[in-house]
Amino acid sequence: MSTPAGEHAASADAVGLPWSGGTARTPDGALSVAGLDLRALAAEHGTPAYVLDEADFRARAQELRRAFETAFAAVGTGVDVYYAGKAFLSVAVARWAHEEGLRVDTATGGELAVALRAGVPGADLGLHGNNKSDAEIERALEVGVGRIIVDSLGEVDRVATAARARGGAPAPVMVRVTTGVHAGGHEYISTAHEDQKFGVSMAPPADGSPSPALEALHAVLEHPELHLLGIHSHIGSQILDPSGFDVAAHKVMALRAELAARTGYLVPEVDLGGGFGIAYVPGDVPLDPSRVAKDLAAAVDASCTALGTALPRISIEPGRAIVGPTTLTLYTVGTVKDVTVDDPAGPFVRRYVAVDGGMSDNIRPALYGANYHAELASRVGEDAPVLARVVGKHCESGDIVVHEVQLPGDVRPGDLLAVAATGAYGRSMASNYNHVPRPPVVAVRDGAARVLVRRETVEDLLALDLG
Ligand code: LLP
Repeated sequence: MSTPAGEHAASADAVGLPWSGGTARTPDGALSVAGLDLRALAAEHGTPAYVLDEADFRARAQELRRAFETAFAAVGTGVDVYYAGKAFLSVAVARWAHEEGLRVDTATGGELAVALRAGVPGADLGLHGNNKSDAEIERALEVGVGRIIVDSLGEVDRVATAARARGGAPAPVMVRVTTGVHAGGHEYISTAHEDQKFGVSMAPPADGSPSPALEALHAVLEHPELHLLGIHSHIGSQILDPSGFDVAAHKVMALRAELAARTGYLVPEVDLGGGFGIAYVPGDVPLDPSRVAKDLAAAVDASCTALGTALPRISIEPGRAIVGPTTLTLYTVGTVKDVTVDDPAGPFVRRYVAVDGGMSDNIRPALYGANYHAELASRVGEDAPVLARVVGKHCESGDIVVHEVQLPGDVRPGDLLAVAATGAYGRSMASNYNHVPRPPVVAVRDGAARVLVRRETVEDLLALDLG
């Protein structure tokens, strides 16, 4: 399925962050992606729609891989980059990631199934999950995943039991530890005991006995059906202050050395997780992959030198930084309403611009108070900008798409509106609230569109209802 490139798109001007690299304005004022005029895309595929810039996805995947490979080669070790499929996964996207030299990190049997359907070999897949089912563990072993990231002491036994039942080579596992470093937003915090469900803690109990992390690592080593591949640490998401990564890396390297001192076994690999922050609104400064890569390589090198251990092979698991900026959501404007807001500084008018989607296609503003940026996509406005709030069509006052944005005063029903940087945790966290069918994901490359995930229909929803 393809749409012809917009007539003017070839001479369009790039618009910069937070839009994808291929997003531009045509001379007559419409937005285009990869040479395709969004008016033409909306005419063929309808709205709302997620519009994914394929070249931008591939470029980001490649940039991250190259940055980390270069930085870690300089200190003498290798890197594997796993694309974190939870951010957004479809068969085509898993294939692109793999074609660009990445592996794929999955967090459930469903994500695993998509990556396998894409033809990614089991050896290039990882399986996460704090509460894996037996079926998920067995499937991972059956397809020979490159690693199962074990999340609790109890899971060590469960994976060992499943591996014993299958026979064959020992199952490669990593143990996910919590370092006490939390990051996300602009700062990181460090605490001993983490009050959350993931991983096993590195903090030793008050009675001086070994930490849960050491206990779990020992337990893996005691099972002949398991091969202890490494230690895993993920400290958070949308991280803009990279110092938390270095602190966590030092802690993990120290744990690795301590395990080696106790057992004589130096784990060959360490995964430092994902979480690299992106720009959501103009002026946001995303984390620079090459800077993070260099800092992390230096941190790992310094730690290992101080500890007298050889460097591990490193892996990372970015999701948002690869897919987030690649995608915009294209909506059609419906109801436009001015609301007078009482404010201590005096009343002001906020223009509510309602679009044909909302919290069912992007839950992040409602769930996290996340900020986004929107612009008219079918034309440039003629009137001076007004303070607007973009809202959806759901029966909930928290159904906000963009909390605050300046939109042209003449924004009106029928206009196309694009919201930037919706590629990560947008479609992947979408719901059917109010029985609203989920939008399609349309990829654009070289002026042509291809539907990666089709639009859901009311018939799809009715098909699940057995009456
Ligand atoms: N690895 C592990 C073990 C993770 O738990 C995550 C994200 C990632 C990698 C990828 O993180 P990224 O590079 O995409 O930041 N729904 C939230 C984000 C949840 C992140 C969960 N884990 C949001 O919309 O902001």
